[in-house]
Amino acid sequence: MSWKFVASHATSLQVCQRQIAAESCRFATYEDRYAADVTGPGPLCYESRCSQPVYSRRNSLNSHHPNALTARRSGPLSGSVQVPGDKSISHRSLILGALAAGETVVEGLLEAEDVLATADALRALGVEIGRDDDGRWHVHGPGIGGLSAPSAPLDFGNSGTGARLMMGVIASHPITAIMTGDASLSRRPMGRVMAPLAQIGAGFDARDGDKMPVTVTGSANPMPVTYRLPVASAQVKSAVLLAGLNIPGTTSVIEEKATRDHTERMLTGFGAEIGREVLDDGAAKISVKGHPELLPQTLRVPADPSSAAFPIVAALIAEGSAITIDGVMINPTRNGLIETLMEMGAGIDLRNTRHVSGETVADLKVTATRLSGVTVPADRAPSMIDEFPILAVAAATADGTTRMQGLGELRVKESDRLSAVGAGLAACGVAYEIEGDDLIVHGGQVPGGATVETHLDHRIAMAFVVLGLAAENPVTVDDGEMIATSFPEFEPLMRKAGADIRAADGAS
Ligand code: S3P
Repeated sequence: MSWKFVASHATSLQVCQRQIAAESCRFATYEDRYAADVTGPGPLCYESRCSQPVYSRRNSLNSHHPNALTARRSGPLSGSVQVPGDKSISHRSLILGALAAGETVVEGLLEAEDVLATADALRALGVEIGRDDDGRWHVHGPGIGGLSAPSAPLDFGNSGTGARLMMGVIASHPITAIMTGDASLSRRPMGRVMAPLAQIGAGFDARDGDKMPVTVTGSANPMPVTYRLPVASAQVKSAVLLAGLNIPGTTSVIEEKATRDHTERMLTGFGAEIGREVLDDGAAKISVKGHPELLPQTLRVPADPSSAAFPIVAALIAEGSAITIDGVMINPTRNGLIETLMEMGAGIDLRNTRHVSGETVADLKVTATRLSGVTVPADRAPSMIDEFPILAVAAATADGTTRMQGLGELRVKESDRLSAVGAGLAACGVAYEIEGDDLIVHGGQVPGGATVETHLDHRIAMAFVVLGLAAENPVTVDDGEMIATSFPEFEPLMRKAGADIRAADGAS
């Protein structure tokens, strides 16, 4: 079979050096993995081993950013928009495919840097992964317990999800791995995952106690645990459940607030025995029985609601717009943004609801609407944890005040999103306050006319590009490059819908 890595996102994804000629690559034996027909500046190499730092080139928060983007007032946006596959499900498809013995086939995988880093990490652990000419990914899983020790550090780039989930997998395999990431990931807390995995029997040596790089020594005799999550985190829950696959007996996680449930759903689909029980205090206890026989699957990844969030809000706030977004996942543990926007009066119709690989999806018709401020309760935060930057943008254009409660977790995302959103709003002339863990935005006219710092955070970049579509003056984001970590098609897709987004003056 010929596996060809075709770049639909050739303009933004820079795995290795741009325009590398396949024949010049020192890993020429992997030549069947080189893109031959990309519509970009030239062939790109998608084999991360062929060149120097793939993801960790972003090793400084203060480096020069040649990829600043400027967005100008636009509208109406129109047409039908296809957003790429869900990031959470894409990571999990590769990981569960690796833990199921045999060939798992994944359609609609998100081909963004975060997910490609997980694919590379799995390859380094001995899993054969490739993409066919029709865009389907093939994972040849050695099965639970079958991973081998990597010979080089695993580079997770910007991806907390990839790093934390894989830490769980490695923790119950008798192997040692060094895990690294870019400057953003290296500042994020890993102790929240290390704590339960240490109880299982894994060993850790982390910079400053809980930061990457981390050396993980998986346990040869891991013990089952019951772990109550101290923070509402699907990544921590998933890391423990994934570790539990290679542990005899039953491993359980107790969560007080429901977080995204893709790991449980997908494990069930792959044939694992997953239990769910509501405890007396209302918390949910989720259990996995160790050493199941996971059966390889053919999966379709539904469109990512966290990526759809950007065109949705863009269409709501750019005058006269009406767009449809096809096949967006509407899992209730991910639906907080849509629920909130509807409370704000948004014109969003859900049509043609159907099921795709164990998830519900719908086509969304979004019509420009004058929004009104609301209060978003803290218990809704986990179901829209990645959507607060773009909700803050919607709130900035709304009539009245929007109060978003219980956003403490935003401080430990790809950037400190509470501060980054606040600073971006202030630069664009929008009044806001941060009170404890609450963000309060006073909406109305948005002057814009500013450059917003993105701090290596893709969602800050996309959110403020969207704000520029409705602001009185252009809004520039200092670094559009990070968008490739989750939504490489963002710029062309938004432009096609009618958004005026261009390289900033002086940017290359
Ligand atoms: C994710 C969980 C969330 C989310 C992240 C993806 C996942 O993180 O912010 O983008 O796929 O499990 P936390 O679990 O840290 O809240």
